[in-house]
Amino acid sequence: MSDNPAVDTPRAVRLEALAYGGDYNPDQWSEEVWAEDMRLMREAGVNMVSLPIFSWPQLEPEPGVYDWGWLDRILDLLHENGIAIDLATATATPPSWLLRAHPEMMPMDADGHRLEFGSRQVYCPSSPVWRENVARMTRAMAERYGEHPGLAMWHISNEYGDHVSRCWCPESAAHFRRWLKDRYGDLDGLNEAWGVNVWGQRYTSWDHIEAPRKAPGPINPTQLLDFERFSSDAMLELFQLEIDVLRDVTPDIAVTTNFMSMFRDLDYWEFAEREDVVTDDAYPDPADPISHVGAALNYGLMRSLKGGRPWLLLESSASGTSWRDINVPKGPGKIRVESLQAVAHGSDAVMFFQWRQAKYGQEKFHSSMLGHRGEDSRSFQETKALGLELQRLEEVRGTRVRSRVALVVDWDSWWGSSAVESLPSQRLNWARQARAWQRALYLLGHPVDAVKATGPFDRYDVVVVPNLYIADAAQAAALTAFADAGGTVVVGPFSGVVDDTEKVHDGGAPGPFRGLLGVEVDEQWPVNDGLAEIVAYGGRAYDSPIWGEWIEALDGTEVRGSYASGELAGLPAVTSRPVGAGSAWYVSCVLDDDGLVAVLRDALTEAGLPARDRVDVHLEAVTRSSDDTDYTFVLNHGHAPISVEVPAGARDLITGGTAASPLTLERFGVAVLAMARAEHAPFITLAPERLS
Ligand code: GAL
Repeated sequence: MSDNPAVDTPRAVRLEALAYGGDYNPDQWSEEVWAEDMRLMREAGVNMVSLPIFSWPQLEPEPGVYDWGWLDRILDLLHENGIAIDLATATATPPSWLLRAHPEMMPMDADGHRLEFGSRQVYCPSSPVWRENVARMTRAMAERYGEHPGLAMWHISNEYGDHVSRCWCPESAAHFRRWLKDRYGDLDGLNEAWGVNVWGQRYTSWDHIEAPRKAPGPINPTQLLDFERFSSDAMLELFQLEIDVLRDVTPDIAVTTNFMSMFRDLDYWEFAEREDVVTDDAYPDPADPISHVGAALNYGLMRSLKGGRPWLLLESSASGTSWRDINVPKGPGKIRVESLQAVAHGSDAVMFFQWRQAKYGQEKFHSSMLGHRGEDSRSFQETKALGLELQRLEEVRGTRVRSRVALVVDWDSWWGSSAVESLPSQRLNWARQARAWQRALYLLGHPVDAVKATGPFDRYDVVVVPNLYIADAAQAAALTAFADAGGTVVVGPFSGVVDDTEKVHDGGAPGPFRGLLGVEVDEQWPVNDGLAEIVAYGGRAYDSPIWGEWIEALDGTEVRGSYASGELAGLPAVTSRPVGAGSAWYVSCVLDDDGLVAVLRDALTEAGLPARDRVDVHLEAVTRSSDDTDYTFVLNHGHAPISVEVPAGARDLITGGTAASPLTLERFGVAVLAMARAEHAPFITLAPERLS
């Protein structure tokens, strides 16, 4: 998008408490049930609900004919019961009458098929009819409820891109062409950028350019990359359109749209800039015993999207979901530890999809706070206890997480390394690398913030760049300045390869990072599926599946680890180099978890940071701090008890007593330790093993 109306001073959500509650769909129930809802919500400590997210057809049953009555009544009832409203603009899905009148607004897939009504989100993001109607509905909602005393914030649309994030219809193609004109000015510019002399791709008219539909073979990579960028921007325009209407009618009310954690298809840096508060929907898979590790990265991103400000967990599941092939429920206590994990990572809310379990429709088997069985359901008993417990943590509201390590999150490199069909290997991409590197840092005891490749880095001691396939001089300069000033930069494989038009940097990788890293890559050397090379590092041998590189270390660069098998045997695999007052590392290979832990442990230690000697994938510690107090959340994500050393004299907000050290956390146990703010957040380690 050309202009960028970023929000510098975000409006506050109108709720003076940690938010607790969930999505609420009263229009699926009779009004008698509403009274019971109010009673049970109060009992469970619910203080905010989100509605009416998918209710456009119930609010405007015929074009221009509104039925506000039911919504008026339930909003008043909620307010009378002290429950704040995260009010949706009701534009998450179109009514059937709108689609039938304008079938051209139905989205199209890459094969040219229209997607039918019968589910939600049936719209093309570029459709002028859709946009016009969205603006109209948003204005109608804002004008009717903008002054409602229960209104805490606006919930715009719902999970942009959940079902449809890219559309290949003629309208989208026309929009794509306009976007390209904006970016490149004229056809010569586009032809140059897209490298059209390869495979005869030259365009002689704008009209010849299509969205990259299915083609006979691999598609021009820059066309694919630009389509990813465009599609994210098209959704962003839709978001901005609603924001503009809401700012016009209700300038003082905070706006948000709920994100989907680490979501590939939308550049959340761009989305977050435009909203007042970041909100996230998190669904770690209960069947995965270490899903909390990935969740930690998702939450690290959420708090970082607006510079460390608290965010809100707006949706999560009380037990199983219903959209996986197999929807495993959460065992007793798991919902508590998962919810408190989000709070540990900076969320000022714990909310669920949804309040009352549906009786019919697509989501009737999705768990809810109030299960089919009613008050006696385990989910109600557990969420009620959690709601009350959360009230004891009120002190942490507004405090910010302190991390000393940041991980570069970059959508361009994510798209470039995953959308393009012609790469050295389809097995290496930004997301896979980011997840593996964060997992190693998690094991070493460090929660990571997310950061753009251009910074700001001033809050950190170590910045890791697990992959930056698309890179430019400004990013290299920012990372170099950070190292010069004493920071440690660790860069992963296949970085600095191409520029933003997907042209390989002169001299090859690592392009703009050559000076910082002091290495030259001669050739990428992917490893076949099921195979691994060996890398020797720190006196041990580690597996290196997926990827290696033929690299040369330049003068002044120390070789820290070398390939020890295959064609690369004897060549450098891991290097480091002093840069100003800091240093820069290059990891040219994909290492197994132990190998990555070993390398990152050394990088952290040499940067003066603590790192766990003994690791436990179930132990997590994260600190939120106010000006004078540290709140250290210690979480046991596993079934076996964990004993940890904690600072003496800390007050546990959950028990109200002083925490002993060593502190033992039982299955899914959590302690929230309050103590005077220290220079650095307390570093929690496992207690020494007792000899029996
Ligand atoms: C989210 C969505 C909700 C609900 C939930 C179920 O993606 O926003 O409306 O469908 O998933 O897990």
